[in-house]
Amino acid sequence: MDAFATDAVEPLLEGRFGRPLRFVPRTESTQDLLRPDDPEGAVAATDEQTAGRGRQGRRWIAPRGRAILCSVLLRPPPGRRLPELSLVAGVAVADAIEEALGLSAQIKWPNDVLVNRKKVAGILAEARGDAVVLGIGVNVNQAREELPADTRPPAASLLTIDGVERDREPILARILARLEHHYDLWREGGLDAIYVDLGSRDFLRGRRVSVDGVSGTAARIDREGRLVIDVDGAERAIESGEVTYDA
Ligand code: BTN
Repeated sequence: MDAFATDAVEPLLEGRFGRPLRFVPRTESTQDLLRPDDPEGAVAATDEQTAGRGRQGRRWIAPRGRAILCSVLLRPPPGRRLPELSLVAGVAVADAIEEALGLSAQIKWPNDVLVNRKKVAGILAEARGDAVVLGIGVNVNQAREELPADTRPPAASLLTIDGVERDREPILARILARLEHHYDLWREGGLDAIYVDLGSRDFLRGRRVSVDGVSGTAARIDREGRLVIDVDGAERAIESGEVTYDA
């Protein structure tokens, strides 16, 4: 697999996201490569992370050169809810994956992007003062045996889904273009402004779920980015947590 080529991304950039695009061949985590004085839309990317982070203190593991591993610096308006940004990014990543694969992608609240019920991408939003570092990991060219085993949802890559090996650069450029588009809409109008693209991809809707001791049927992701669960006819809105669900 060729090393990631930033030269191949730059001509494909459509807006302000991806400028600058900082690439290092190997790093602990791209989440730590962006600086407080970087402009909004600055991106750090790598071919290999030695201490990649996932949500809930988990590790994010991908073999060198197979995945998109990047972080984007955002400066949302004060007072906006961080979890909403994971969903904004989820929509952007789902758009880019759908374009690459020609298959529909779903969003599993709060931060997973799934294709055929398998996780192909994850998003991690970390606050840095007033800024947010949005980490995006997309499994692109991993073979089945290179993916983490026994995860729920099970992991997949674009390669394991349709057998096609892809250049990562155009997919990253497309993620950045879609992220900028949906982020700008969200800045102006909140999740309402992107709700058609979010609600229609809600993987959990209608499934039996449990989050932090609350069990019921997932009703929807609401306009504040919470998961609404119907518990015997009464609705409970969950702010954050780890969802288990019936297949
Ligand atoms: C998750 O699904 O738990 C979130 C995974 C986020 C992984 C990405 S890879 C690039 C960036 N750097 C990290 O250390 N984590 C994020």
